Amino acid sequence: MCGIIGIVLRYQRALSKPLGSVIKGCLKNLEYRGYDSVGFALASSNSLVIRKSKGKIDEVDVKLAFDDFDGICGVGHTRWATHGKPSDINAHPLTDCSKRIVVVHNGIIENYLELKEELIRRGHRFESETDTEVVPHLIEEFKKLGMNSYDAFKKAASLLRGTYALAVIDTDEPGRIYFARNTSPLVIGIRDDATFLASDIPAFIDYTRKVIVIQDDEVGYISGSDVRIEKLVSKSYEVDLTPPICELVDYSSRIRHIDWTPEMAKKGGYPHFMLKEIHEQPQAIASTLSSLANEVKDVLKLISKADRVLIVGAGTSYHASFVGSILLSELAEVKSHAIISSEMKWYSRSVDECDVVIAVSQSGETIDTLLAVREARRRGALTIALTNVIDSTLARESHLTIYTRAGPEVGVAATKTFSAQVVALTYLALSLAEYRSTLSTNKLNELKNSLRSLPDYVSSTISATEPRARSLASLISSKQNAYYLGRGLGLPVSMEGALKLKEVAYIHAESYPAGESKHGPIALVDEGFPVFFTILGSNDGELIISNVEEMKARGALTIAVIPSNLDRIHKYFNYAFIMHPVPYEVAPSLYIIPHQLLAYYTAVTLGYDPDKPRNLAKTVTVV
Ligand code: AGP
Ligand code: GLU
Repeated sequence: MCGIIGIVLRYQRALSKPLGSVIKGCLKNLEYRGYDSVGFALASSNSLVIRKSKGKIDEVDVKLAFDDFDGICGVGHTRWATHGKPSDINAHPLTDCSKRIVVVHNGIIENYLELKEELIRRGHRFESETDTEVVPHLIEEFKKLGMNSYDAFKKAASLLRGTYALAVIDTDEPGRIYFARNTSPLVIGIRDDATFLASDIPAFIDYTRKVIVIQDDEVGYISGSDVRIEKLVSKSYEVDLTPPICELVDYSSRIRHIDWTPEMAKKGGYPHFMLKEIHEQPQAIASTLSSLANEVKDVLKLISKADRVLIVGAGTSYHASFVGSILLSELAEVKSHAIISSEMKWYSRSVDECDVVIAVSQSGETIDTLLAVREARRRGALTIALTNVIDSTLARESHLTIYTRAGPEVGVAATKTFSAQVVALTYLALSLAEYRSTLSTNKLNELKNSLRSLPDYVSSTISATEPRARSLASLISSKQNAYYLGRGLGLPVSMEGALKLKEVAYIHAESYPAGESKHGPIALVDEGFPVFFTILGSNDGELIISNVEEMKARGALTIAVIPSNLDRIHKYFNYAFIMHPVPYEVAPSLYIIPHQLLAYYTAVTLGYDPDKPRNLAKTVTVV
């Protein structure tokens, strides 16, 4: 997990500023992917400069002085360490012994230890603790054995097991960047005077919107005016001179024009992406809803014939999956279960061709979710991706895809992609209910209308709850712990609320079914312990009151997210976010808003940067 950028110019200064400065800008757009260290390398016909350091871009810019360096070809990297601690030495780029070959890498090379031992036996000296460093030494070794630069790179790539997106400069070929991909994302951006290579499109969106998504097992290179892609069709794991077999790829039909504007990927006047993205939820929901009809039509018949629907996702996407599984069951009477992606393995023996597996992932690159899909496919299940990223690995590896259209989400903490996922799954459940005639026409119409009105409700809810969230943040920021309790659909909303507080404000927050709280969790509750209750309507409201009483009896500070029409129970709470009453089934994407805002303002009150929470990365491409 990290950000990779590679740029080759057609001529010096083609992008009107020093290449170091361009790389810095691209890396900043990618920083959300992982950011314990930063580095870059710039090559021109007779020189190679490598600068790298532990820290965030803005912090290390003073030391690295990106703007002072120019070149015709360069790579940059923001690292999220997997092998070897974050340090100046372990930061990428990494080099061979002669320091003429530089490599940046995203992913994990699983067989690096055996390769490293072999290379050390052959006299190579390693400087870092990373798995990545085997790559430049392998290339160096194959060149030493007589291969040309590109063949040596392909041979090295063919030896790697694990996950990787690689960008490589060999100073003997300063006008090219070699690349290879397996599982970790990589895209090419094209313009007349420069070619880009990056982990994700926002990296180069300021320069081009013409992209090609690199697929697994593809290798190749970019130059200032050319792109070459080959498919690696045979791999050998021997360090010998047998060249890997590659087939040239005709990528002309894969060139896409992405309609994101650079502004969409920037902060748009908000202090943080997280706040901007919370505020973008009305548009995210509206555009998702507007594009769903066709995509969902294709899957209705197939889901309807299934014995059961398993919905898999990780983190926030699991919480959306949980909402989806309740709704498929409640509204459409479809047997449905939500499973955390990394736990799917333990259920997979029962998966067969009668199952449908819906994989939910905003990035479409989460490895846990991808592995769940691959296993389900292997067992014959129909797989459907629900993702926010066009042409992502998940979309390409699933039989069918439904897209959320939330636009790029930069904040590490998912917000607008959650509401878009929830809305897409609600729409799917309603369409299935209609198809299977499991709801009365009145109920169906009521829910459809409420779903259509959600963007307006979300918009007014943001305005109505933001001041309270801001003021409550100072109280919550003094706490060490919090509970988030709910029943039914209130539970996944509570789980998501707790995750948000944990992720950005670093306050220990746990979520439980409200009825379960008395079976153990209540032991921790004492004077002033914050307990949030998310109550979506009268059916869960009545049941929850006894749980509220139990908490109050232990001195808990009780905070409700509750509809205005349940005014007779408002008095049970110390604080309440009063919500617009909507039908229970469409409430989750509305009722999450105060939780998102509270987490955001608590983080800011505590002086944390909510866009870059410690230890987290936007896209998790390691198991
Ligand atoms: C969300 O706030 C988290 N950063 C994380 O739990 C995330 O939802 C999870 O890693 C799944 O990501 P995905 O949706 O891209 O698959
Ligand atoms: N495994 C490599 C490292 O630890 C790359 C990690 C990444 O994807 O940032 O350096």
